[in-house]
Amino acid sequence: MTSMVTRDTSVEAKKYPLAMRVVHWLRALIIFGMIWAGLTMVAMNDNVPAKFELFYPYHKSFGILVFLLAVTQLILRTKGGVPPPSTILTPSEIVLSRWLHRALYALMFAVPLVGYARSSTYSQSDGVYFFGVTLPELLPKDDHVSAMLQTTHKYLAYALLAVVVIHVLAALKHRLLDRGKGDDPLSRML
Ligand code: HEM
Ligand code: HEM
Repeated sequence: MTSMVTRDTSVEAKKYPLAMRVVHWLRALIIFGMIWAGLTMVAMNDNVPAKFELFYPYHKSFGILVFLLAVTQLILRTKGGVPPPSTILTPSEIVLSRWLHRALYALMFAVPLVGYARSSTYSQSDGVYFFGVTLPELLPKDDHVSAMLQTTHKYLAYALLAVVVIHVLAALKHRLLDRGKGDDPLSRML
């Protein structure tokens, strides 16, 4: 008796599951907003009321949301899996994209956690606001440690932005320059 293996080659089978696509774009949008809000708020004068009444609390809230969405995306990835790599990628591009995705996940965890630690250790912090709830600041207050965490948060956020730029350029390269060669990675995420 011969067994027949049927492979699902439909367009849907090559796409990321819907839930992962939704989380990907929602979180991408929030991260762009977060970087803008972070840079805007630190440049603001302390006597502008919006700085501490709006920007700081919502920067913290959305930052923690990014962390939760990154956890959700990893759970979805483990449970639902992801489609096999795009057929237009060379073996070295597959390895590179895997490492870029790992770097993105690592930074999506590290940036909010260091931001949380920065607020927790700062003696003048107004607390870690999360959409109406003030989360406990679990770390001991220490302004010296806090200042180091502030710098770390800033450079990790810049690193996240740099990796995202490479990620976007790679997606656009395949979209625009490898047109017609096979399944384009961007359409797997749309
Ligand atoms: C993905 C999430 C996040 C991104 C991309 C991000 C990005 C940034 C950026 C670009 C700045 C400006 C840095 C500078 O030029 O000095 C900043 C500042 C800041 N962030 Fe975040 N952030 C995130 C999450 C968080 C979280 C979760 C918290 C706290 C719970 C937080 C707390 C702060 C604070 C307090 C500042 C003001 C600078 C300081 O006093 O440390 N951030 N953030
Ligand atoms: C803050 C912004 C972004 C972050 C943090 C981010 C993060 C990620 C991560 C972690 C993955 C891997 C998902 C997995 O397999 O578990 C991914 C996949 C993907 N992202 Fe993004 N992304 C961002 C923005 C964008 C933008 C703006 C584009 C398009 C121009 C894009 C295009 C894609 C594509 C096409 C894939 C699938 C790659 C493949 O099939 O190999 N992303 N993204």
